[in-house]
Amino acid sequence: MSSADPLIIFDTTLRDGEQSPGASMNAEEKLRIARALEKMKVDVIEAGFPIASPGDFESVKAVAETVKESVVCGLARALPKDIEAAGAALKPAARGRIHTFIATSPIHMEKKLRMSPDQVVEQAVQAVKWARQHTDDVEFSPEDAGRSEPDFLCRILEAVIDAGATTLNIPDTVGYNLPHQFGALIGDLIERIPNSDKAIFSVHCHNDLGLAVGNSLSAVLNGARQVECTINGLGERAGNASLEEVVMAVRTRQDLFSCDTRLDTTQIVPCSKLVSSITGFPVQPNKAVVGSNAFAHESGIHQDGVLKQRETYEIMRAEDVGWTANKMVMGKHSGRSALKSRLHDLGFDFETQEELNDAFARFKDLADKKHEIYDDDLLALVNDSTQSAGDERYRLVSVKVCSETGETPQAEVVMMVDGEEKSAGASGAGPVDAVFGAIESLVQSQAKLDLYSVNSITEGTDAQGEVTVRLDKDGVMINGQGSDTDIVIASAKSYIHALNRVSEPLEQRAHPQL
Ligand code: KIV
Ligand code: ZN
Repeated sequence: MSSADPLIIFDTTLRDGEQSPGASMNAEEKLRIARALEKMKVDVIEAGFPIASPGDFESVKAVAETVKESVVCGLARALPKDIEAAGAALKPAARGRIHTFIATSPIHMEKKLRMSPDQVVEQAVQAVKWARQHTDDVEFSPEDAGRSEPDFLCRILEAVIDAGATTLNIPDTVGYNLPHQFGALIGDLIERIPNSDKAIFSVHCHNDLGLAVGNSLSAVLNGARQVECTINGLGERAGNASLEEVVMAVRTRQDLFSCDTRLDTTQIVPCSKLVSSITGFPVQPNKAVVGSNAFAHESGIHQDGVLKQRETYEIMRAEDVGWTANKMVMGKHSGRSALKSRLHDLGFDFETQEELNDAFARFKDLADKKHEIYDDDLLALVNDSTQSAGDERYRLVSVKVCSETGETPQAEVVMMVDGEEKSAGASGAGPVDAVFGAIESLVQSQAKLDLYSVNSITEGTDAQGEVTVRLDKDGVMINGQGSDTDIVIASAKSYIHALNRVSEPLEQRAHPQL
């Protein structure tokens, strides 16, 4: 363990990350991610925005009831009803934090809030005092700090520290700042605010110019001791600073940083895969740290160098961030306890015996079709099995397609719809189009298909295909995923997964506009 200063990692995948269009998650999915974050030793988990909807409230409460090692945080505007909701949702938490915010940039104060700077200071101080009635751990954010007047920031931040704020988070809400400028702002605030030693300075950077990680690191070099970030850089618009990049930059460059996180970095890749499969946002292959090519060496010169001495072309070890050799791990004859134990090593634990039994049945099915089962196959399999929890409205029973050169593809689909078996046929431009047409004629969702993508989970023509679809239902984006060795079946599963989410009550997904 290093003797460096602690750098607090505040993960906001479940709050800002969920604000990515299409990334909404249900309470059970949020809980799975929260457990993975806790296992990775994230210090603070921002679990949601309790006032946003009953669904958000319940998921923050569920995370607060479950997570014991990390601080659980809830977001609240600087309004009494928001702070009440956050306080109530966090009541069961072993350690709960309320994060309250109000905008401080001239454009936001004038055009959005229609409040004077004096009124904003007054409201911020009140909000912190209200929040302190629920917990001693109160974070305050001056929204759009990156475009706020530094003198005004000094004034409001000094006042909220006096009112009891223990963390001051400086957001670059619209991702406008450059690293040297943002670092200087943080250094300046710490130096100029007379009571700055009474609070931890935090940063929250958006990635509109691709600078979220650079800005966060520059802030850390200038005294910030908390970074707000998300798994895979998920978040509003272009996203937030990516947790894996911030953590590994600080860990790898200990020659430059006088602080370090306490994260178990071997959990990074499993966590990234979990978030990707739950949200349906694939990770680009060339993404730093967690992309599938992040440790792949294509050129002969590089391969030769790495074979002679790994450090010639690698600054991190793949195993330190949780990449395991994607080796053949199991086969047809492997038993239930081998499946359970291998998945435990990969960071996945079954909640109930039924879940294990269900996954084992799918595993046997897969092993019949595919000789060699890899780690990634197992992860896809459990993600698929938790997608069909048994209480969903729609379930695929069977698919039959007929696709022939020169002929129009035809599909027949049998599905359970609200407990009743129904079937329909359709033709289409291709087999997937025909299957989606048949499903749609049974479900009549009228959702628009916004995105369709297929990835191969492992290599070879017998690999499982992982299909992601995004549906647009009345302006709300919903993703779905499905995997199978047959990509037409994987497509049907992903479409039905998304339709089940479309049919969840709207209040479980809605977010107010900030
Ligand atoms: O980007 C932002 O300003 C936020 C605040 C609520 C911290 O997400
Ligand atoms: Zn944000």
